[in-house]
Amino acid sequence: MQSTSKTITLLVRLFKALPRKSQSYFWLLVPLSIFNGLAEVAVLALISRLFTIIAGLPNPPLPFSYLIPTDPKIKIISIILIYIGMNWMSALLKLTLKASQEKLRHIIYIDLSKIAQRNLFLQNYEYFISQFNNDYSTKILLNIQRVSSNLVLPFLRLTGSTIIVCFIFIAILSIEKAKAIYLIVLLLLFYTITSLIVTPYIRFSNKNRIKLEKETTTILKESIKTIPDVHLTSSESYFTNKFEQISQETTPYIWKGGLLPDVPRAIVEPFGITLIFSIGLFPYLTGGEANNLLEIVPFLATFAVSALKLTPPLQTAFASLISIRSGVPDLEEALNLIELPKKRITREESNKYNSQGIEAINSIRLSHLNYKYPHSKNLVLKDINLTIQVGSRVAFVGKTGSGKSTTANQLLCLLRPTSGNLQIDGINLNDQEVPAWQSNCAYVPQSINLLNTNILENIAYGVIREKINQNSVWDALEAAQIADFISDLPEGLYTHIGENGVKLSGGQRQRLAIARAIYRQSKFLVLDEATSALDNQTEADVMKAIEIIGRRCTIVIVAHRLSTILKSDYIYEFDNGTIKASGNFKQLLEKSDSFKALVNAERKSTKNSINQI
Ligand SMILES: Nc1ncnc2c1ncn2[C@@H]1O[C@H](COP(=O)(O)OP(=O)(O)OP(=O)(O)O)[C@@H](O)[C@H]1O
Ligand SMILES: [Mg+2]
Repeated sequence: MQSTSKTITLLVRLFKALPRKSQSYFWLLVPLSIFNGLAEVAVLALISRLFTIIAGLPNPPLPFSYLIPTDPKIKIISIILIYIGMNWMSALLKLTLKASQEKLRHIIYIDLSKIAQRNLFLQNYEYFISQFNNDYSTKILLNIQRVSSNLVLPFLRLTGSTIIVCFIFIAILSIEKAKAIYLIVLLLLFYTITSLIVTPYIRFSNKNRIKLEKETTTILKESIKTIPDVHLTSSESYFTNKFEQISQETTPYIWKGGLLPDVPRAIVEPFGITLIFSIGLFPYLTGGEANNLLEIVPFLATFAVSALKLTPPLQTAFASLISIRSGVPDLEEALNLIELPKKRITREESNKYNSQGIEAINSIRLSHLNYKYPHSKNLVLKDINLTIQVGSRVAFVGKTGSGKSTTANQLLCLLRPTSGNLQIDGINLNDQEVPAWQSNCAYVPQSINLLNTNILENIAYGVIREKINQNSVWDALEAAQIADFISDLPEGLYTHIGENGVKLSGGQRQRLAIARAIYRQSKFLVLDEATSALDNQTEADVMKAIEIIGRRCTIVIVAHRLSTILKSDYIYEFDNGTIKASGNFKQLLEKSDSFKALVNAERKSTKNSINQI
């Protein structure tokens, strides 16, 4: 009982989350189901009347019966013709209802996907980096797909068929009173009992099936992702065996999950027929009130047709009910996403406050900034104080894991401080102003992500095709030292680069990412190890190009290479989440032993490699 009310509450929450238009569409299905029910009632009334006439029993007049000729032969033929016509109409109505249900299911799927996508965009960056499953988007889409096919569609079918069943019941009740009550009560009892027996098994099977299917998908995905390792370690059979083993474990859950919802369906029909004939023949066999077999013919015929009419919607209702109840965990997961509270405002909303965006005129500053990642225990950044003069080039150096990328993300407001502030020209930047600040920032992250499309759309990220300025795209590619390579490609800017640029080398991908950042002509550019995959000469060329735009733009570079650091106006050395030392190259050499060691180590390795030649 509790689980039923829980399911209803969840469905109501889902309904409330839908846009008005879809809600109205749903209500439109109700009259359509009523028409379906009425058509079935008419069919039943006609069949009952037809057999009463055939058996020569007295029969009360039908509505509109004055339209039917009184001649018995013509009367029978007229009723048969109307009966045939009504069957056709009922079939057409059924098809219309089904088409509308399928259409609404898809509309709701689009609605839910849209809500989920919008909600995800309204989450802050922390939300994404704290997800343990990096294939989060696939999981969401699958979940919504399951909700639409295992819950929404069955729910629509349930409402439709319940209305139809009610009408047929009313018709049977009005035609055959006492016997119909026995029949209805027994049928309901049968459904309830079967439902109670079968549902837990279905739920159990589905839960295990989903779990095991997830595992097999992960095995396949991960092994494909790490294909070089598979080749080098000859671990093909390791993965195929693992895949096979789990797939085999899934088998019983798959067939049980497929079969069990059909079990009641399969036994409902013989049960109904047995019931009808038992009730119908009972008085005849016991020799009670009806000795004349002909007298029970109308009853048997009406009920046989009723059973025929009743079975499909009852089966649908029952299967839908089971599907809905076993889909509750999916619905809960989808609702978590659909009702996700908003964590950031978008540029459109913030336009109200700063239509031009926020630009720094003098300085960008982090003041007493502390930061802790969600789910981590300790502060990752501790009392960071740094100032970046507008137009300068600043480098972040330091050991791996010392907090350089995290600090870069703070400057870009991808992450917000646990305490302390980002100040633009000495004024704290509040959450409302974040999109306005970000509109002037560009970023080349440490791990690059490219779109599975052509070069043009990768450079002009998020710009619709008609609005892309191809000259600016070429300028950006030129600056990133990749224009020659692209102009030599047969399809030029329209070359598809594959998923995350698999068709490109590491350095080419990096240069595309740099070109993407340059295309935006931002005032503040952050390059996080953006040139690490480039050879010395290409890197020097990229840096030279950046030098040219550098005067229009403030640049923060996270780098290890001496040559990159050397030309910076100011350097911050990070150590374990704090700024250990800062100054220009010369000052830092004097101040920091670790920086000195870093510089010496690189000089030595460069000298060694030159000596070796
Ligand atoms: N999503 C995350 N959740 C929890 N901790 C994180 C997360 N990302 C990074 N960290 C931790 O924060 C610390 C600083 O990481 P950060 O990426 O800023 O280092 P980094 O200086 O850029 O290192 P590298 O030179 O290797 O890129 C590390 O100790 C890391 O373990
Ligand atoms: Mg980093």
